[in-house]
Amino acid sequence: MDVVITRDISEIARTVADEIEQLLREKPTAVLGLATGSSPLAVYDELARRHREGRISFAQARGFMLDEYVGLSTDHPERYFNVIVRDFLSKVDFAPGAVSGPDGNAEDPEAAAAEYDRAIIAAGGIDLQILGVGSNGHIAFNEPGSAADSRTRVLELTEQTRRDNSRFFEGNVDAVPTRCVTQGLGTILEARRIFLIALGEVKAAAVHELVDGQVTTDWPITLLHHHPKVSVLVDEAAANLLSAPTH
Ligand code: GLP
Repeated sequence: MDVVITRDISEIARTVADEIEQLLREKPTAVLGLATGSSPLAVYDELARRHREGRISFAQARGFMLDEYVGLSTDHPERYFNVIVRDFLSKVDFAPGAVSGPDGNAEDPEAAAAEYDRAIIAAGGIDLQILGVGSNGHIAFNEPGSAADSRTRVLELTEQTRRDNSRFFEGNVDAVPTRCVTQGLGTILEARRIFLIALGEVKAAAVHELVDGQVTTDWPITLLHHHPKVSVLVDEAAANLLSAPTH
């Protein structure tokens, strides 16, 4: 695992975009793992810029999202699928239907989650996964205590995550769904390459546990140590609890 601390978010964006550009050049049909949230926004903007300049095409690529709320209407602006369309898909050239996310409104959510997990495997697995992290160390929506070998499934959100995410719901915690569908930790760890992006002081404890702590399901982020090819890209605020410089 390598850890890069930078003052400059555009450096993070360039690092991830460079590797995605190279991946798409070598394998235009690459499968990308797409996170929602604020952390990957600069990466998506950089990819969109390169697409506009004619450097990258996603026309043959596919994408899988990490997670979704259960029970938000299909037109709800904070439904993760709508968020990724707004933040990224609307700015690049994925073919219609090439990017999918877990179904938060399925009649049988557990069955749909298992089907989603199988669809990732059937697509050949994820070549490159972009990840954020929650303030409590969750990745996707795998809350503390999630098993290292967990698969895509329905979960209850913790109060902390609902409070953290209430900023997207006009500050109203009660408007944040109580359940989600998330790729499991086992599912995520099967991605062949992972970039984790953590920005801001609110992520400092999670980054500290990852870099200085033990591997524990209490901090799902630490399970990334089980993966052979992870790059952790953090800004200085997210690095401010680290015991030693990691450059
Ligand atoms: C949510 C998402 C995660 C994301 C996390 C951090 O809870 N389910 O996938 O990593 O928030 O979001 P942000 O990048 O906005 O800080």
